[in-house]
Amino acid sequence: MAYTVPKLKDFSPAALDKAVAEFLSALDTESVGVQIESERKVFRDRWQGRKNGLLTQVNDLWLKTAPTDAKRDVGQRVNVLKSRVAETIEKLRPSVSATAVVKGLSLRTEVGQPTAYGDSSLDISLPGIRRPIGAEHPIIRTMNEIIGVFRNLGYSIAEGPVIETDYYNFESLNFPPNHPARDTQDTLFLANQESKPPRERLLLRTHTSPVQIRTMEKLKPPLRILIPGRVHRNDPPDASHSPMFHQVEGLAVDTNITFGDLKGTLDHAMKALFGSDVKTSFRPSFFPFTEPSAEVFVSCFICGGSGKRGADDAPCRPCKQAGWIEILGCGMVDPNVFEFVKRNGYDPEKVSGFAFGMGVDRIAMLKYGLDDLQLFFQGDVRFLEQFG
Ligand code: PHE
Repeated sequence: MAYTVPKLKDFSPAALDKAVAEFLSALDTESVGVQIESERKVFRDRWQGRKNGLLTQVNDLWLKTAPTDAKRDVGQRVNVLKSRVAETIEKLRPSVSATAVVKGLSLRTEVGQPTAYGDSSLDISLPGIRRPIGAEHPIIRTMNEIIGVFRNLGYSIAEGPVIETDYYNFESLNFPPNHPARDTQDTLFLANQESKPPRERLLLRTHTSPVQIRTMEKLKPPLRILIPGRVHRNDPPDASHSPMFHQVEGLAVDTNITFGDLKGTLDHAMKALFGSDVKTSFRPSFFPFTEPSAEVFVSCFICGGSGKRGADDAPCRPCKQAGWIEILGCGMVDPNVFEFVKRNGYDPEKVSGFAFGMGVDRIAMLKYGLDDLQLFFQGDVRFLEQFG
C-alpha cells in the first residue's frame, strides 16, 4: 500500500517522531524504484508537488492543525522533511558520462553531474555565461586623450589626494585666509576639524592645483607635469553641474618660460584635441595663483565659429551662438606661489612657469554631443555601452 500522510491527534514529541520516521521510510523505499527521468518527475510531483504533494499535505494536516504549544516542535520536523525530500530528489538526477556528451547523445535533462566544486551541478549543455569586458568610461577616455597630447610634449603625470588640507588647496596657492577669492570655489569641508590649526583642516579639493605645490615640494625644476583627477564643489547636480567632476591641470617650470610658451603650448593642445582648424583666443582673467591670468576659448568646432547651424541658420547651442567655447583657465605662476617652495629650487628670481587647468567633463560633453552631464554619473549601462 502506498504511503499516505496520516491525520494527527497526538502532537507529543514521541508521536511526532513516529510520524516522521514513517514518512522518511516511505520516502527511501519509493526512491529506490526510480530509474528513469519520467519516473523521477512522477516521484518529484508526488513528494514535492505544490498543489497536493505529500509535503504540502504534511503542512496542511500536521502544521496547520497543531495546537499552539506544539507548533514549534512540528515546524522543526517539517523543515527536516522538506530538506530530506529535496536531497532525495536531487540525488536522483541522472548523470551522463563525458563520452556520451561527445557522441552527441546528451539531452539537457540527462546532463548534470555533481562537480568537484561542491554539491551544485554543472550542466555543460547550457550556453556559457557572458561576461562583457566593459568599456572605458567616456570621461576617463577624454582624460587619456588629453594626457596623450601632453605626453607627446614631454609632460609626465602627477597625482595627489582628493581629501586635501586647507594649506595645499588654498593658502599655498596664494589664497590668504579669509580672502574673498576663496568664496569663488564653493568648498565642501570635512566636519569636526575645528580643533586643528586652520591650515591643517581637511576639505574636498576644489581643483587639481594643490598638486602643483605638492609636486614642487618633491621635484626640483625644471618640471613639466600633467595632473588628472577628481575634484568637488558644493554645486547641486543639474544638466551642467555636479558636486564631483574632473580636471586636468598642467604645470611647466624652467628658466625663461614666457607667456608665449603658454600660448604656443595651449594653441597646439587645443588643435590636437578639437581639430587642426580651431582658433584659440586668450582673454584676461584672474586666479590668485597665476599672474597674469587668462581664460582660453576655442572657436566653436560645432558651428565653425559662425554661431549658426544648418541651412536654416539655427542657433548653435554648444557655443550659445557666440562662436567661441571657454575651455580652460591658465596663467604664469605667481611669484608668491614659488615663495612656498623656494627652498626646493623655485626661487622666483630664477625660475618662471605657466599653469593651466581644464574641466574634463565639459570637454567630454562637447566631444560626444551630450546635453546632460548627469549621464556620466548615473551608471546606466545602456548609455555607457555606446562607448564600447
Ligand atoms: N584651478 C583653476 C580652477 O579650478 C584652474 C586653473 C588652473 C587656472 C591652473 C589657472 C592655472 O578654476
